[in-house]
Amino acid sequence: MKPRVFVSRLIPQEGLDILLATCDVEVNDTDEHLSAARLIDRVKGKAGLLCLLTDDVDDAVLKAGSELKVVANVAVGYNNIDVQAATRRRIMVTNTPGVLDDTTADFTWCLLLASARRLAEAERYTRAGRYAGWGIMLLCGQDVFRKTLGICGLGRIGRGVAKRAAGFEMRILYTDAQRASADVERELGAHFVDKPTLFRDADFVTLHVPLLPETHHYVSTPELSLMKPTAHLINASRGPVVDEVALVQALREHRIAGAGLDVYEDEPQMASGLTELDNVTLAPHIASASVETRTKMAVMAATNLVEALQGRRPPNLINPEVLA
Ligand code: DGY
Repeated sequence: MKPRVFVSRLIPQEGLDILLATCDVEVNDTDEHLSAARLIDRVKGKAGLLCLLTDDVDDAVLKAGSELKVVANVAVGYNNIDVQAATRRRIMVTNTPGVLDDTTADFTWCLLLASARRLAEAERYTRAGRYAGWGIMLLCGQDVFRKTLGICGLGRIGRGVAKRAAGFEMRILYTDAQRASADVERELGAHFVDKPTLFRDADFVTLHVPLLPETHHYVSTPELSLMKPTAHLINASRGPVVDEVALVQALREHRIAGAGLDVYEDEPQMASGLTELDNVTLAPHIASASVETRTKMAVMAATNLVEALQGRRPPNLINPEVLA
């Protein structure tokens, strides 16, 4: 008998095909986010759950899935899964690291350039029929080239962002819980500084830290107060890393020049007033959304799930303790 698997949303067919080859697959083909109660209902009797970052896989879901052997997240971040509870219940948890780094780094640059040069605002202005002719003061933004880029978190995505900065001849500062090796610093031309120095000196601050208890509201009023009035904040990591209410306040009072956001504290909700501001560029959590990368993520998650169900160690196992 094939193991039963639940896929919580539609995923690229290439990923589904991998599951269909060896599993009895049930898909939430409405592609709607499932409430906790509906997710609980659908995991019953399943050996595998392939889920997305919109699914809150908490202890109640894991308990209901009493036959679950593996939860395969189609994302590199896995803050939507209670990994401790899964480990306690001897359920493997996997993610999709590596495949989305360059795509996310590219998109970070989309946000950075759009914010610096007021692209979203200019697009809205043009589309609204307000363009009445060239003006020397019209929609002036800030230059990016030869400015200072501040990277918070020099992991794979942070490094991808740093590499791309070379073409803009930028000075690169970074801060991280752990300092990178001298070789990495040399290769990227990145200088390690403490967090206040980075927020004070950077023209563009970009966030690439994981969401952990210690990075919740990593950027709030104290950090925003250190930033230059001409500086921009870019976030393509996780929403709760930024105190969104404090950011709205800083943008409204023009204490910083702009922000480019792909993620929000309580997605898909946004802090009151955010969408009314002109000096913020907003995207709906699409930093990894290229056809190629989303396909690779689905294939990777499906492979993790199948490997686990076939009794092998999945390549991207987050909690190897379950195998001990
Ligand atoms: C992730 O993988 O964690 C991203 O946020 C979605 O691609």
